[in-house]
Amino acid sequence: MLPAPSWIVGCGKMAGAMVEGWCRAGVDLSEVIAIRPSGTPVEGVTTVTSLPLGNPAFVVLGIKPQKLDEVAPALAKRLDSKTILISILAGVEHASLRARFPTAGQIIRAMPNLPVSEGRGIVALFDPAPYDARSVTDALFAPLGTVVRTQSEAELAAIGSLAGAGPAYVARFVAALAKAGIERGLDPALADRLALETVFGTAAMAAARDEDMESIARRVASPNGTTEAGLAILDADLDRLIARTLAAASRRGAELADAARIE
Ligand SMILES: NC(=O)c1ccc[n+]([C@@H]2O[C@H](COP(=O)([O-])OP(=O)(O)OC[C@H]3O[C@@H](n4cnc5c(N)ncnc54)[C@H](OP(=O)(O)O)[C@@H]3O)[C@@H](O)[C@H]2O)c1
Repeated sequence: MLPAPSWIVGCGKMAGAMVEGWCRAGVDLSEVIAIRPSGTPVEGVTTVTSLPLGNPAFVVLGIKPQKLDEVAPALAKRLDSKTILISILAGVEHASLRARFPTAGQIIRAMPNLPVSEGRGIVALFDPAPYDARSVTDALFAPLGTVVRTQSEAELAAIGSLAGAGPAYVARFVAALAKAGIERGLDPALADRLALETVFGTAAMAAARDEDMESIARRVASPNGTTEAGLAILDADLDRLIARTLAAASRRGAELADAARIE
């Protein structure tokens, strides 16, 4: 059960996926209220359009970083020394959150990714509180997937650019694989299914066998065979492309951090 009462302030794609994950795991959400201006219902929790009365024990801040200064003044007045505030905002640093929510008991930064909806997500946490205060939050996030404790906000940012954004990159790879298959004459629906199953099957196999990616590639590619011919093309650019992709995401995170700083 999430602490009562819990508020999810901004419950769109990411916080909504967390609610889905908690629902799927059978977590009791009867004391959880989602706050979103549109009032679009969030299945499994009560949805309202503005902050309810009272003081929350637990808050997930799920708005866009650009909305922080619109939301913070009213929310800050409701937080007290017993409130645990979890921010999933990309970029926005702990000190920037503490400056806006000075009375909150504990402020934790979390970087989740979308597969939390299936219980297969990553939730990276940055929590400067003493270690013994952390077990509550670990237990709350465990049903969503793998919980990773970070030592610094730089590490959280790096995880954000890899795992937070990662599902979008994997989705693009699957789509590109399917598209290339269609160009080779495959039926589009079949190509989509094959591309997804290939990624899914490879990931499942690697996890089940604890096998590294180099070993998998070597097992597929026989010397001078068809896969090796394909890898010669892919390997020429892929590392550099992915490195530039993550670097661009990191730069954007740094801009969001700058914009939220209060000097
Ligand atoms: N998407 C991801 O994969 C991902 C991954 C990691 C972290 N994040 C972080 O998660 C946060 C949300 O991203 P998202 O992709 O979920 O965006 P989103 O789908 O646009 O959700 C934003 C939510 O904020 C609500 N909102 C807007 N103004 C508000 C206000 N004044 N008071 C209360 N709620 C308000 C919106 O309400 P309505 O629904 O009524 O419009 C919506 O529910 C961002 O800070 C992002 O950095 C996202």
